[in-house]
Amino acid sequence: MQAEVDASADSIWDAVETTASKAGEEEKQPRTAAEWEAVRHNAIVLIEAGNLLTVAGRPLSRAPFPAEAAGALDSADIEKRIAGNRAAFNQYALTLRETARTLLAAIDARNAQALVTAGGNLDEVCESCHLTFWYPKQVIPPWPREGEPRYGKIASNPAR
Ligand code: HEC
Repeated sequence: MQAEVDASADSIWDAVETTASKAGEEEKQPRTAAEWEAVRHNAIVLIEAGNLLTVAGRPLSRAPFPAEAAGALDSADIEKRIAGNRAAFNQYALTLRETARTLLAAIDARNAQALVTAGGNLDEVCESCHLTFWYPKQVIPPWPREGEPRYGKIASNPAR
């Protein structure tokens, strides 16, 4: 996940960005042949990662790991869940591959807007597999009510 899926997805998500500042909007996107080629390589890694995820019999991780957060599973439970529903896991993996192919098509068309759209779809594919196999019972804290200590912090966050 970290070395192939996350690294290549991040570089694709970061490839197109609009930054707004006092000086105006700045559009970041691949422009030179080398820049398009770099993002293309990442799309290919993602396509092949989708294929690799369907290979049966591979251990989930080098060493067992505990649950990372409330509602997340530990490595033993994730493995059990995948083994118990391998068809669905493979379906998510193939959806990852097919979505990455739409990224590749956008890149080959040099179409930054299509790359953003496909990148949004990609995010949903990651999240749906994670919700099924990694953190099926994730706890999303309720939005705090006015007056609660967390409220002031969130309401005054300029990043919102
Ligand atoms: C076919 C299912 C599936 C898809 C699709 C998938 N993941 Fe994962 N991912 C998992 C599972 C299962 C885990 C938990 C086990 C683990 O950490 O490897 C995980 C864990 C992770 C981790 C934590 C790794 C670690 O070592 O802590 C990251 C980061 C991650 N995924 C990113 C992504 C991103 C980004 C995408 C989409 C581009 C994605 N994943 C798509 C199944 C998937």
